[in-house]
Amino acid sequence: MAKRRIASVVGARPQFIKAAAVSRALESTFDETLIHTGQHYDQKMSGVFFSEMGIRPPKHNLGVGSGSHAEQTGAMLIALEKLFVELKPELVLVYGDTNSTLAGALAAAKIHIPIAHVEAGLRSFNRAMPEEINRVLTDHVSNWLFCPTTIAVMNLEKEGIVEGVHKVGDVMNDALLHHLSQARERSDVLNRLGIKRGHYALATIHRAANTDNSESMRAIMNGFSQLSTQIILPLHPRTKKLLTQYKLSHPKNVTLIEPVGYLDMLVLEENANCILTDSGGVQKEAYLLGVRCITLREETEWLETVEAGWNQLVGSDSEKIKSAYETWSQPAVRPQHYGDGHTSEKISAVLAYHT
Ligand code: UD1
Ligand code: UDP
Repeated sequence: MAKRRIASVVGARPQFIKAAAVSRALESTFDETLIHTGQHYDQKMSGVFFSEMGIRPPKHNLGVGSGSHAEQTGAMLIALEKLFVELKPELVLVYGDTNSTLAGALAAAKIHIPIAHVEAGLRSFNRAMPEEINRVLTDHVSNWLFCPTTIAVMNLEKEGIVEGVHKVGDVMNDALLHHLSQARERSDVLNRLGIKRGHYALATIHRAANTDNSESMRAIMNGFSQLSTQIILPLHPRTKKLLTQYKLSHPKNVTLIEPVGYLDMLVLEENANCILTDSGGVQKEAYLLGVRCITLREETEWLETVEAGWNQLVGSDSEKIKSAYETWSQPAVRPQHYGDGHTSEKISAVLAYHT
């Protein structure tokens, strides 16, 4: 029997990592065409993940690049519709909540191609977040909604979405479990940076709510300057650009580095004394690796990590950053909230059964 044709749309860093796990599981049953929108394009934001995670390079790169939300999403929509018409996939797979996710879902929905959404049902309940708009709209046009958590299933139910909903766990857990031992063996990032386990904190910042506001960025840097630890900060290009624009220098205890590949990132995360981040994926990885997390946001989609005592929300408040770092104590347990590392296989099995 001919394999069923599936087109997967990726475009931003976390989607390459998620696709690495899911594409491996789809291989035996589906003929997958990986489409890269080109939303992220720097070698360190894109190419490195394909070379180091064993992902087959995308068959199509739309080269959309950066722009305003409308420019970027619009360009993707136009290019994706053309490609879907040509490729005639039986289903389109999208990941997460970026502009690439929304464009993939909307382009498919309008020409009646069924859609599977991986990481469905997440909500911050903050409509000022571009990602919240992308997720709500994507969920409402999707046919298969693969939820990582019970909270995600409940969020969908509240919006009247119950059909096609599957709680499968989190594909980022699959990726982490698959690559962790390799990362420990291969990455020399601690030596390269001259740092030791437990003697540094790791930070990432890229959310619009933080980066687009010079006062928030200033307050975060001020909070960082008061921590009694070195902080390694792999700088997202968006943040790099805005720090330069605000003429904001970083405190002495903050070491800025270029974005790193996934293997280096896992090693940096696992060995940090604390993670400070506004990233969704990094909050989850901190939890999975048993590293305390201070989240530089007012809300999170990953409420389980907060409820379990491993994550604290501090926004961009300097004082809260300092007191969270100084007063944190390790919870006794870390419940398994994100599946068993076989989420991708479950997704593939559900799709194989229903298509
Ligand atoms: C995007 C997603 C966000 C996700 C993040 C992952 C949207 C609305 N946002 O945010 O949900 O958490 O990716 O990292 O889809 N840039 C470069 N080189 C690159 C990519 C970006 O220099 O390879 C710079 C450009 O100046 C660009 C800016 O970063 O304007 C922002 O990039 P963009 O893709 O629009 O959003 P992200 O902040 O990366
Ligand atoms: N990541 C990485 N290198 C970095 C920063 C992040 O490999 O320099 C990985 C991180 O381990 C996680 C994912 O990128 O798997 C998270 O992506 P990001 O923070 O860009 O987006 P978000 O998850 O917030 O959408």
